Amino acid sequence: MTRYIIKGGKPLNGVIEISGAKNAAVAIIPAAMLVDGACRIENIPQISDVTMLLNILKRMGARVRTVDRHTMDIDCSGVRRARADFDIMTRIRASYYLIGALLGRFGEAVVAMPGGCNFGSVRPIDQHVKGFIAMGAQVEVKNGLVIARAPEGGLHGADIYLDVASVGATINIMLAACFARGVTRVENVAREPHIVDVANFLNAMGADIRGAGTNVIKIRGVSRLNGGSYALIPDQIEAGTYMAAVAGTGGSLLIKNVIPKHMDCITGKLEEMGVSVREGEDQILVSRTGPLRRINVKTLPYPGFPTDMQPQIATVLCLAQGTSVITEGVWDTRYKYVNELLKMGAQITVDGRRAIIEGVGQLTGAHLKACDLRAGAAMVIAGLCAQGVTEIQGVDYIERGYEDLVGKLRRVGADIQSVEIPENEEAQVIKIG
Ligand code: EPU
Repeated sequence: MTRYIIKGGKPLNGVIEISGAKNAAVAIIPAAMLVDGACRIENIPQISDVTMLLNILKRMGARVRTVDRHTMDIDCSGVRRARADFDIMTRIRASYYLIGALLGRFGEAVVAMPGGCNFGSVRPIDQHVKGFIAMGAQVEVKNGLVIARAPEGGLHGADIYLDVASVGATINIMLAACFARGVTRVENVAREPHIVDVANFLNAMGADIRGAGTNVIKIRGVSRLNGGSYALIPDQIEAGTYMAAVAGTGGSLLIKNVIPKHMDCITGKLEEMGVSVREGEDQILVSRTGPLRRINVKTLPYPGFPTDMQPQIATVLCLAQGTSVITEGVWDTRYKYVNELLKMGAQITVDGRRAIIEGVGQLTGAHLKACDLRAGAAMVIAGLCAQGVTEIQGVDYIERGYEDLVGKLRRVGADIQSVEIPENEEAQVIKIG
């Protein structure tokens, strides 16, 4: 069992390089299923969600060749069947992209219901299904499987209005519609940077998708996607997490390989808190020397403040002067991490979708358990800021989405170690990484 041990109270100083975007990678890897030939994908983050997806593709017959640490050649031409009902599918949310990709390619998809971080009462896929049905598919959910079938003659274009601007539904409908006859027009789509990245990838392979990044996306069906190469955008949330970390600890971080425009929603809030953010072309310098001010934050779909940064900003607000209010505008509930922060002396009251945070100035080290990816990242930030030692269990969640978090933080002055502790031998430290 791996744990992180953090001795808090050290400011962060130095340079951090951001990896490729997780939520783009986990959509673009399944999108390779639509491509006839090999695609070279660059800037792939080394995270366990990517490893799991690549394993799913390999087990279906795809050829995956590692070119270097962050570059892979993926060739799905050899995949012959539209089934992906492996156990592994239920452990990863993004496996739902295989429904759109397989339906688009084979006119059929049989895929296990997706898993992933659980912070809503449910994580529905009704908007994905609504889109597939509008394109003529029949969709059934039974015995934990999603079974989708295109009609005789294949999917056709359709006008689809999403009831919620869902990231997953937007991407899944784009995937299914690539080869559909005619034009598919999807309104009220999500506009996250990774939506644009997926559309750019598909267009680079020969698709005809317009409007990604706006409220309406139009997909004109084409007959074939050819191989090619594509580099993923940098991870907005990974960059935001390190920005929040230095806001909490103080110090100065040069965060490289970012698209500053994608960071605006986070930058604005950190500046309101008294953090200095200076943008360059593909890097940002974030420093904090003075006290942190209270703010209110409401999470919204892009270009609003991202829900995936909510636990991290809440943690930093524990150290601010005064009372801050967070409103979660995307998920029903995403406050499971609060109980862990309370162990460190935080004062947070959760009321439905709102969290009221009384700044306490200082947190104290504690034993914590990560309950999802971003909650885990928030606990790391809490540990870096706290007085004393913090031990975090459940770091598998963190490693699903952050490449080399421990190494990156150690190189900028954090005292954090990844330790392997055999079950039933809590105190025995075997490996230090
Ligand atoms: N929703 C529906 N019906 C649907 C789909 C979504 O009602 O068919 C609702 C959800 O319940 C939620 C809202 O719409 O209230 C937004 O859900 P969305 O579909 O946008 O989320 P997702 O595609 O399941 C992706 C990211 C999440 C991120 C959300 C919101 C991936 C693999 N996951 O999830 O990222 O929180 O968008 O931005 O892209 C993370 O990276 O830590 C993470 C959880």
